[in-house]
Amino acid sequence: MSHSDRGVDTLTSGRAHQHPEPISGASYSAVELLPNSNVLMLDQRRLPMQEKYEVLTRPDDVGAAIREMRVRGAPAIGIAAAYGIALAAACTRGDGAAFLAEMERVTSLLAATRPTAVNLSWALTRMRATWSAVADRDHTSRLMLVATAARDIHIADVRACKAIGALGAVHVPDGATVLTHCNAGALATGGYGTALGVIRAAHEAGKRVRVLADETRPLLQGARLTAWELSRDGIAVEVITDSMAAHFMKKEKIACVIVGADRIAANGDVANKIGTYGLACIARAHGVPFFVAAPTSTVDLATPTGDGIVIEERNEEEVTLSDSRTRTVPDTVHARNPAFDVTPAELVTAIFTEHGEARAPFGQALAACVGSGHGAKVR
Ligand code: MRU
Repeated sequence: MSHSDRGVDTLTSGRAHQHPEPISGASYSAVELLPNSNVLMLDQRRLPMQEKYEVLTRPDDVGAAIREMRVRGAPAIGIAAAYGIALAAACTRGDGAAFLAEMERVTSLLAATRPTAVNLSWALTRMRATWSAVADRDHTSRLMLVATAARDIHIADVRACKAIGALGAVHVPDGATVLTHCNAGALATGGYGTALGVIRAAHEAGKRVRVLADETRPLLQGARLTAWELSRDGIAVEVITDSMAAHFMKKEKIACVIVGADRIAANGDVANKIGTYGLACIARAHGVPFFVAAPTSTVDLATPTGDGIVIEERNEEEVTLSDSRTRTVPDTVHARNPAFDVTPAELVTAIFTEHGEARAPFGQALAACVGSGHGAKVR
């Protein structure tokens, strides 16, 4: 049976069967752990045309879903991986040694799915601390403890995104037009969003906010996902092609650019969806503040600068085929497809985390955010 055969069309229809409320309290969710430790996942490749959920019953399927970008966005990838580990714990009935061997196998498999988003290895490291400590327990307590640890990662992400939203919304004036790139929203996180969490919080505070969403070539996360979730929340959004951003910064008053991040190096260099670097250059040229919103799980203090960040190269067909079918490039010509780029710290105005706001020089400020946990404003 294929995944789609097992799918349900919306979370609401799914709930009638066995599905819990999304942890975030929203009406949709990128990924949830079901009571039986199967993984419920919204297939984001089908949005905006179809809101289809699938039930994953094997940890290897979770790995495939991350690789194929049925779930995507750095925090959501981390949460999905944690749920993949919970599913592995539920599927493994052997003794302690067999349990450890299987958890090790699944951890390696999940870690290899996408290289750039550090939230993946961050979540797997957290999960390792739990599964390695419970190997000698009986099956039921093993699976319960691992599932609880995974859900805690999800719950903490929602909380972090709400804190980021509250902190960042202060910088969004009433009547602002905000430009964003890719999708750093509820779909990319536990359910509130980082960049879109800031916009959401400003909207919830009663500010009138209008969003210009870069369509985000080649996979169109801005056009398909950002536009879907903002319009669903009643937040004004218009889609522009990536190449229109400079034009709008020149012709219209853009209050700020807000983007998410896949990995932030210790010096404040920011890896995010391809095109972010160009956007930061244009923002600087037009005097538009360039904000990055990300939980501290995205900050990688072990990587000193952006030069050390591995950039994922994806299949060239994502560029050469439109709608995954029609070739738009001559048959004999190849395409390049780096999925991310690195914006140098000097182009970043501020980084909003759940533990405060970091500004240049970023090194100390980011380390304080990661080490803090007290919500203090760090500059
Ligand atoms: O390739 P994707 O869709 O996983 O890339 C997503 C992004 O680049 C997001 O901006 C980033 O992960 C932040 S999500 C809160």
